[in-house]
Amino acid sequence: MSDPLPLVIANHKANLTYSEFEIWVNKVGPVAKDFEGTVVVCPSSPFLAQALILTQAQSWNLKIGAQDISRFDIGAYTGEVAASQLAGICKYAIVGHSERRKNFNETDEILDQKVQMAKKVNLTPIFCVQDENTKIPEGIEVVAYEPVFSIGTGNPDTPQNARAVSAKIQEKGDYIILYGGSVKGDNVKNFVEKSVIDGVLIGSASLDPQDFIEILQSIY
Ligand code: 13P
Repeated sequence: MSDPLPLVIANHKANLTYSEFEIWVNKVGPVAKDFEGTVVVCPSSPFLAQALILTQAQSWNLKIGAQDISRFDIGAYTGEVAASQLAGICKYAIVGHSERRKNFNETDEILDQKVQMAKKVNLTPIFCVQDENTKIPEGIEVVAYEPVFSIGTGNPDTPQNARAVSAKIQEKGDYIILYGGSVKGDNVKNFVEKSVIDGVLIGSASLDPQDFIEILQSIY
């Protein structure tokens, strides 16, 4: 990954209508332009191409990420979006989010296949782990530590524990580590620390553009 740190990723999950998303991009884009790290937005997949068009037209420093990719290559897989289709639009793809592991029964084997698909077309997988024991596939550069108890609960991990888990993950490989789970403008600074936690993956507090802008402005 050659993009500058810190890495701040908005994961919109299955939220926002198209017009809400357009407003979001138009508000966050100009702020992202001046951000000294890297800002990535992962909207619902129908909005990805338009996000790229808007961003390029305005020269905003906003990268586009997919929330998931298919484990299959292009072909007869109704409803799926292949990594090679996303490659011209996205720089990143979230893989292995706990919501996908739980609700869509994604196994280590499936996640390995997804990572391979991403790597084949130079998409950078953001590989999510629940703790230091989650298996991390070969070739991963960016790992997001997202403890399940902290996702969408308003109950973040303690910064001390997040750092301890991140250090254990680092022992397994030279990863860029993100923390995710109830991150907001008023706690983001507790988590991001150079060479331990390199950025954040944000769900709920990324939906309102103003809340997300507050996070970008509070990180330093
Ligand atoms: P919240 O920020 O809503 O806790 O979600 C975190 C997350 O799942 C990001 O991928």
